[in-house]
Amino acid sequence: MCGIVGYIGERNAQEVLIKGLRRLEYRGYDSAGIATLDAGKKPKGNISLQVKKCKGKLSTLRSMLEKRPLRGKIGISHVRWATHGIPNTSNAHPHWDCSGKIALVHNGIIENYEQLKEELIRQGHLFRSQTDTEVIVHLIGRYYKGRLEEAVRKALKQVRGAYAIAVISKDEPDTLIGARSGSPLIAGTAQGEGFLASDIPALLDYTNEVFLIDDGQMVVLTRNSVKIIDVQSGEKVRKEKVKIQWDVAQAEKEGYPHFMLKEIHEQPKAIRDTLMGRISRRRDAVILQELAPLRKTLSCVNKIVIISCGTAWHAGLVGKYTIERLCRIPVEVDTSSEFRYRDPIIDKRTLVVAISQSGETADTLAGMREAKDKGAKIISICNVLGSSVTRESQAVLYTHAGPEIAVASTKAYTCQLIVLYLFALYLAQARKTLSGARLKQLIRELERLPHSAEKILKDKKVVLECARRYYKSFGFLYLGRALNFPTALEGALKIKEISYIHAEGYAGGEMKHGPIALINPHLPVVCVAPSSHVHDKMLSNIQEIKARKGIVISVASAGDELVPHHSNHVVYIPKVEEIFSPALTVIPLQLLAYYIAVKRDCDVDQPKNLAKSVTVE
Ligand code: G6P
Repeated sequence: MCGIVGYIGERNAQEVLIKGLRRLEYRGYDSAGIATLDAGKKPKGNISLQVKKCKGKLSTLRSMLEKRPLRGKIGISHVRWATHGIPNTSNAHPHWDCSGKIALVHNGIIENYEQLKEELIRQGHLFRSQTDTEVIVHLIGRYYKGRLEEAVRKALKQVRGAYAIAVISKDEPDTLIGARSGSPLIAGTAQGEGFLASDIPALLDYTNEVFLIDDGQMVVLTRNSVKIIDVQSGEKVRKEKVKIQWDVAQAEKEGYPHFMLKEIHEQPKAIRDTLMGRISRRRDAVILQELAPLRKTLSCVNKIVIISCGTAWHAGLVGKYTIERLCRIPVEVDTSSEFRYRDPIIDKRTLVVAISQSGETADTLAGMREAKDKGAKIISICNVLGSSVTRESQAVLYTHAGPEIAVASTKAYTCQLIVLYLFALYLAQARKTLSGARLKQLIRELERLPHSAEKILKDKKVVLECARRYYKSFGFLYLGRALNFPTALEGALKIKEISYIHAEGYAGGEMKHGPIALINPHLPVVCVAPSSHVHDKMLSNIQEIKARKGIVISVASAGDELVPHHSNHVVYIPKVEEIFSPALTVIPLQLLAYYIAVKRDCDVDQPKNLAKSVTVE
């Protein structure tokens, strides 16, 4: 939901700002813009504010800038995912005030903008866009009496809603200001330079030392100083720098045609990284130091509620099956958007687990706050260090997937599953619901997953053949049971997201209650049927589809002789413990969605209407 970058230093600002946006393009891609302050060749005092913006992708803006580059060593930039006002040039950011001196970019939604806009129009302000954003910069203009910092602070006190902003003014060419409330913002520093960005990858080329700006805080950057202040009181806030472990290469495609394909291939490593340090040397225990402060809570928890959105919700569903089976604790799973409005029954003995790749999903954050108000303890499973979700949790279990750039989630999903497995084993160990021998056996199996994932990725013949044959299909049906019912949902979501083919994910047992009516000789049905306690049941589903001449694409365990007999195509996964199978069965489905999208000429990494990080409701 929009990406912002800000820069002040000695480099060419345009270069830094555009490079930063390239790493944030996953956040929005319906329009883009940049503003810099250019002193030109004239003496100081003749600084001008230069703005370029356009409808469409960042590439359009880049072509504009190639023809007529912007000069200057300070600036702000933006990629947009439209909320208020259609994607066009006048709604693209940056926006500027009536004097034409102050420019601003914004990520979020200003809820009281209509009322503020009316007031400002009455006072003579001229609006150029339909956005909610423009009111902020007009307010700053209205309050500007020679100190940008003060004007921004006063303006922010007037606005309600979510924002991360970056602001510059022609009258203060040595100051870059950022602020946040509800939308992500980090500030970075290097020798003689300051940066602002919505997400870490935008800064990685220049620095790995960042300040995580909190809600209600503003940051004032000059070339040699950083000041963080509380918006309400205006008082200085002390904050430690955080060192980021990700590197630049992780945020690049490294020869792959798309980030999604790269990220699918990174899964074995991402799983290994996520397991690292969390299994005892003797491989007989799970170590989750992060949960130490919650040991007491965990021993008396009587219900777990998992909240998440999209792909992370599917991970939560796998978590339910796993935790209930291994720990015998009831688990509810809800999409965060439903949870927050259903007045959930929660008390002090409920543990809420929030799952989020980005850690910035608005509904998940709201769900966590709802749970906290009701007295629940909150653990989060998250991929982004210091993100909002992690800061609002009592304990965080990080997935170590590295930056995930493609909008469709792949490696973050498998790593979420790994953390859920570790968590379930940890709980089972603490509550003694598994024997020592069984625990050991499961841990060893878990450690084999990266190797098994590698094997799947080595042989794509069947998936490629299926993509070639069925990429023109009108629809797809995905079926799975028990732990692999969520896999069916995730497979269907992947194809919907990036290929724009309608797909349904269904529990195999529900097939007779509706989807069976859809089966015909042109409908590919993907059946997730690894070895499991419901294998026979999936086999019956498969036979029922064949009896109606449907096309069956199965995902089966190596050595299975029954499923292939009734399927048109079979992708094999290595044999694995049933509870861990979702971490493997999903991989062929990710690949199938990917190759179909490529065949259909779709924009794989930036599918239409979607954004990677949904920071608005
Ligand atoms: C968006 C993304 C999905 C993601 C979901 C939840 O819809 O396109 O890939 O699963 O948000 O995001 P989160 O960052 O909370 O996991």
